[in-house]
Amino acid sequence: MIHNSSINTTSSLIYPDIYNYQVLSNQPLKLGIMASGNGSNFEVIAQAIADGKINAQIQVLIYNNPGAKAAVRAENWGVKSVLLNHRDYKNREKFDSQVVQILQQHDVEFVIMAGWMRLVTKVLIDAFPNRMINIHPSLLPSFKGVQAVEQALVAKVKITGCTVHLVSLEVDSGEILIQAAVPVLPDDTSETLHARIQVQEHRILPMAISLLTKGNS
Ligand code: GRF
Repeated sequence: MIHNSSINTTSSLIYPDIYNYQVLSNQPLKLGIMASGNGSNFEVIAQAIADGKINAQIQVLIYNNPGAKAAVRAENWGVKSVLLNHRDYKNREKFDSQVVQILQQHDVEFVIMAGWMRLVTKVLIDAFPNRMINIHPSLLPSFKGVQAVEQALVAKVKITGCTVHLVSLEVDSGEILIQAAVPVLPDDTSETLHARIQVQEHRILPMAISLLTKGNS
């Protein structure tokens, strides 16, 4: 449950107090990051850690698509990356067991899905209960699942945005931690709108991790 004691209402960036998810330790929080593609969210997390804005360290990046730019970014940051190609596994559970194994082997305490484009199973969720967050390019619960930006354009909403939420079994349905609003402009294409949403993603994902690790600083 979220305590609403310190809600910021001064901008379109609305974030409640999420300290009750904190890991009470002075040690840097050991993160596992999961990404499928470009990895711009991976990049901003790595940068925020390097800038001392988040008391954490990235233990490993797991990526599922060979050639994902996220892996190149990890290499540039000196972060170990592991390719787990979901196409090599019989079913989602077997794939997730391997994900869990890699995360545990790397001593991961908290999992960040930063553009992870796979449905997850109970196998993964049970291994990291309340210790897994995702970034989604809409104001949930609107426009769950794939093509959230396109869904917003089709619905002709005037405001959309992005959400950081806990990962639960039902897709894009876990408890909401932080959201940021983004106006939809008359000439927007999915590319232009997604680009502006990503500017906000790059603010709220590091912010969520920072709040989660507040007890560590
Ligand atoms: C983001 O828009 C995120 O919300 C969605 O996938 C995209 C990943 O972007 N889940 P990037 O790979 O971090 O650049």
